[in-house]
Amino acid sequence: TSALPTPASLKNKKVLLTAGPTYEPIDPVRFIGNHSTGKMGYALAEAFARAGAEVILVSGPTNQKTEHPAIQVIPVTTADQMYAQVKQHADTANILVFAAAVADYKPKTVSEIKVKKSDETLTLELVKNVDIAKTIGQTKKAGQFTVGFALETDNELENARAKLQTKNLDMIVLNSLQDAGAGFKHDTNKITIIEKDKITIFDLKPKTQVAADIVTFISERIHV
Ligand code: CTP
Ligand code: CA
Repeated sequence: TSALPTPASLKNKKVLLTAGPTYEPIDPVRFIGNHSTGKMGYALAEAFARAGAEVILVSGPTNQKTEHPAIQVIPVTTADQMYAQVKQHADTANILVFAAAVADYKPKTVSEIKVKKSDETLTLELVKNVDIAKTIGQTKKAGQFTVGFALETDNELENARAKLQTKNLDMIVLNSLQDAGAGFKHDTNKITIIEKDKITIFDLKPKTQVAADIVTFISERIHV
């Protein structure tokens, strides 16, 4: 399926969406981050808005922009900030989509002053970040539809299914890396949607079209 979502098919629905990377500070001028561009998340926000939904987009640092009046962007930097905003808006959301590339770890302590170069090696102690999708998924209310994203290099179906279960998600959008042109830094993506007892494979497409496919798929699942 590659139909564009019908305009207004998600009218009166509230979507809470995370997008982009998170930056975890080391000191005032350095951070740990990743290559997520936020493109997929912003394309999804636009597709949801075009389908008539009200969108809250909790976004990590990115160059992406959106002008759609139905999209409220809440900019954040760290995973902790992203979690705080998601928590605050989760109750009223009908659909929750976790498209952010949240840093799994953050520095245990953040230096107040710039770390000076000294020894030949430097060890940073990292601690786990809050798992936003898992925490929200495990406490979601009846009727709330939750969607995660995953990018795996090995055992992709098995790993994605495990995440579906532990994070209590209704579906996972699996990004396939094997295909040239898919994933970070590209304008195209090849996805597989994984549900409890169904797998749906899509062709390689521009990210905007992938976003439309995902929104169409979700609107069919929530029977609107
Ligand atoms: N996720 C999240 N908060 C985190 C880590 C991940 O909300 N701290 C969400 C992502 O936005 C994505 C899903 O969980 O929707 C899966 O992310 P992924 O990085 O693939 O899974 P992890 O549980 O972090 O496992 P790992 O990185 O070890 O594969
Ligand atoms: Ca991770």
